[in-house]
Formats: sequence, C-alpha cells, structure tokens
Amino acid sequence: MTSFEVVDPTTTAAWAALEAQASRIRASSLTELFARDPGRVEALSVEAAGIYLDLSKNLLDQAILRDLIELARQTGVEERRDEMFAGARVNVSEDRRVLHVALRIPADDELVIDDHDVARDVHAVLDQMGRFADAVRSGAWRGATGERISHIINVGIGGSSLGPAMAARALRRFSDAEIEARFVSNVDAANLEAAISGLEPATTLVIVSSKTFTTLETMTNARLLRDWVTHSLGEASVERHFVAVSTNLEAVASFGIDPANSFAFWDFIGGRYSMDSAIGLSTMLLIGPERFGQLLAGFHEVDEHFLSAPIEANLPILLGLLRIWYSVFLGAETLGVMPYAEDLERLPAYLQQLQMESNGKRVDQRGRPVSYPTGPIVWGEPGTNGQHSFFQLLHQGTHLIPIDLIGVLMPLSDEQASHDLLIANLLAQAEALAFGRSAEAVAASGVPADQVPFRSFPGNRPSTLILLDELNPRGLGALVALYEHDVFTQGAVLGIDSFDQWGVELGKSLATALAADITAPELSAGHDESTTRALERYRALRRQWA
Ligand code: F6P
Repeated sequence: MTSFEVVDPTTTAAWAALEAQASRIRASSLTELFARDPGRVEALSVEAAGIYLDLSKNLLDQAILRDLIELARQTGVEERRDEMFAGARVNVSEDRRVLHVALRIPADDELVIDDHDVARDVHAVLDQMGRFADAVRSGAWRGATGERISHIINVGIGGSSLGPAMAARALRRFSDAEIEARFVSNVDAANLEAAISGLEPATTLVIVSSKTFTTLETMTNARLLRDWVTHSLGEASVERHFVAVSTNLEAVASFGIDPANSFAFWDFIGGRYSMDSAIGLSTMLLIGPERFGQLLAGFHEVDEHFLSAPIEANLPILLGLLRIWYSVFLGAETLGVMPYAEDLERLPAYLQQLQMESNGKRVDQRGRPVSYPTGPIVWGEPGTNGQHSFFQLLHQGTHLIPIDLIGVLMPLSDEQASHDLLIANLLAQAEALAFGRSAEAVAASGVPADQVPFRSFPGNRPSTLILLDELNPRGLGALVALYEHDVFTQGAVLGIDSFDQWGVELGKSLATALAADITAPELSAGHDESTTRALERYRALRRQWA
C-alpha cells in the first residue's frame, strides 16, 4: 500500500489559530461582521468558469479565511492535488490512481502515465460512444424488429445511476432526440416495474452500467430486464437491446452482451466520479455527442482553475475549507444543499454520494483513527419547496446548519415573472437567515409583547451563495467539478482517503448470508436476537404468501 507524507492537521499552527478564531467568531454576528468590514463582500466573493461564489454570509471574516488558507498550505492541499492530476496512487487503501480529471482532457492534450497516453484511451471511448449515440438518435440503430429506439433504461446504482439520473433531469431542455430515459437502481423490483410500465421491449434499449459488473442490485435487475426483452423478442434480440458500460468487459461478455456494444472505463475512475465517463452514455444519448463535449468542457474549465488559481481565488479549495471550518471548528454536522432550480432536483442526492461516500471516513491515510469530524452529512431539496417544510428549523431552530444556496440566473422556463420570484426567494432566504429580525424590530412593528419571542428571528445563520449564469451542459459540468474538488480539498486537509468506500462492504456480505437464511429449511444460528425475530416473522409470512 502506498503511503503519502500525510500531515496530521491537528499539529499545524493554522489548526491552533483556527481553534482560537472559533471562540472569537461565536461571540460575533453577521450583522456586526458586515458593519465592521465594508470590503467584506468584495473580499469574500470569487468568480471563475461561469460560477459566482459569495462566502460573505458565512460565520467567518478575512482573518479566518487567511488562517484556513494557511491550513490548506500547511496540510499540503496543493501538493496532494498535483499528485492526483499527475496520476499518483492517491487512493492509498486500494492502491489506485485517481484520474477522473483525465475524462475531460481535450482531444489534443495528452496525459502520459507509465509511457501510456491515457487521454487517447479516453477519447477512443468517447468516439465510440459518439458513433453509437448518433446511430441511436438518428434511427440508424434499430431494435430486433426493425423499430426505432424510443426509450432507454439505465440499470445501475450509486455512481452508476445518480450522476446520469441527475444529468438527465438537469439537462432535459437540451435533450433533442425523441428518446426518454428511465433509471432502475433499487433491488426492490417496484423500481423496475415502474420503469418498464408503458414500454415495449421492441423500442427499448437497456444500458447495463456497472463499474464492477458484479453489483447485486444491477445484476439482478439486468437479468430481469433480459427476461422481459427475450420473452417477447427472443434470445437473439439481446445484441440489439442491451449495451454495457463497465471496467469488467469479461463479465459483460459472459452476460451475453456483444463486446462491440460495450463501453469501457478504468479502475482509476471512482464510481461517484464517473458521470462524465462512459457511465454518461445515457446522457450522451439524450443530449448528443456535441453537447456532451460541452459538459466535459465545463468540467475541464474548473479542473484548470483548481489546478492553477491561487488558493485565495480558488473556488473549490475555498469551498472545501469552508466545510472544514464548520464541521471541525464550529461543530456543524450537516450541510444543506438547496438548488433554486427545479431541474437540479436530483443534485442533493448526487452530492450525498459524492461527499459522504468520499469523506465519511474514521481513519487517516495510514489507518490511524482521526480525532476530528470528517465529511458533513449532506441533504437538501430544491427551493422554494424546502421553504415550506424544513426552513422553519433553519430560521428559528437550535442547530448550526450551513447551507449552499444555488441559483441559476437564466430561467429554465418561459415564465420570467415566476423566475423573478424564484430568485427573489433565494436572496430573501439568505438575507433572512443572516440578519434575522430582532425582537426590538418585531415589537416596533406593533406585534403584542407576548408574541415577540415567537415572531423574532435571531439571524446569524450561514449560507453560501453559488450562482450559475445558465444551467446548460457546460454549466452543469463546471458545477459538478466544483463539488468534486471541494470534496478532494476536505479529504486532503483531513488526511483521509476520499476515494475508497470500504464502509459499504459489511452490509453487502451480511445481506448475501441473510438472503440464504430466508429460503433455508432451517434458520441458521448466529444472528442476534433482534435479527432472528425479524427473519422468523418474514419467513412465516412468506410461507403463507407462497
Ligand atoms: O457499493 C458502493 C458502490 O461500490 C459505489 O461506490 C458505486 O458507485 C456503486 O456501488 C455501484 O457499483 P458498480 O458501478 O460497480 O455497480
């Protein structure tokens, strides 16, 4: 196993400085911080790659930001970043390179690793995807009965589903083919049943997306879909109705999918970092190869910015440092992500995997338990819907909850007046959270004294404003890359491996054993009493239903 020079962040001078800063900021307020520093917004706003980031409504000031930047320097964030881009094995526990940034290298660039140009492989697959997407979109690719493909079903889970599903929704206005995409991930067959409802096998193309091609959920659903297709169109139809995306092309071939219809990616692409690899085939089928290229260009623009901008103006590094500030030094446990754009509805779910599978770690890169909190718990809903459910707690509850408020300036519909209201609400929430409404102001407005405590707002509640000019392929690519590198920055400061996910393994193996217990003649000993009782209850009811 490779080991990098991991700095224990708690031993740095910046860490100690930030601990002291935390008590100072707790005694202050956003109202005071804005009043004290007229240059605050200018100093705490940065812009790059079509993204405007305003950190000014956060519980920090320029001095704290300087200490956070020092923390990044003292923990070697820039060195770690350069190692990742150069193809070092920064995924230490799996001894793997981490090269999702290679997926968006322009065709005329190269990335030579061990005398091999990885960029060439990436573009060979992109070209193969492009030819296939053009054929399906133009109708040149037909199903077994000669009909055009009208529906695609992406079968995959986690990173092999969340990104493509999020992108299909986010870029729906750019989907110009007469094709509808559906997504099947859950082993609960209700998901599959709903996805095939109203579809005909003759006009449906199934994309089996799985990095490993062994994932229980995906393989179970892929087999069921195969039965659905072959039952109506015969065995030979598989080659016209099934394609696969995987790093395990041998397993793809043994499933019966034509190697010519298999799209490769590589073990240096983590599942949650793969929406811009061949895992994005459904995205390309919907928006076409050219726009998929624009999506990659958006990612690449942020990669270049992340790689070259000084920390002071580096959007993803600043965002990552902000997360560290709240979780480590101010004790916030969660991060709310509120896209004020209906088409970004699936972004919070996508970011949950990106952030929590990456940084939900309890040991550092050398396997030593860490003494500080790691990745935040991520959750969220699109605005304005959230305002009418959980925002009450954000405004008047007792928890410290930093949130990202993501706005898209160009409307997603023709209703400009509705969009004006949406943007007004986004800004109103940020303002209300930060500055509140004091008891004095509430009393002065004529509210009876006994009502004042209920109706006043303490304010001092943080939010980060992230504004995109437009939600187009390029803008989406830039936004996702921003969050990818935010996650990287957190992992680098905290000295953890952001690219493994051993935490999912135990549940997987226990489920396999439990599945055998469900159908075994006798229940095996060895489960705890609570599990045994639940199993017995299920086995008994299952016998009645059978
Ligand atoms: O179980 C977690 C996980 O490995 C994720 O990291 C991954 O995105 C998902 O399962 C799906 O894996 P695969 O693409 O190999 O089917």
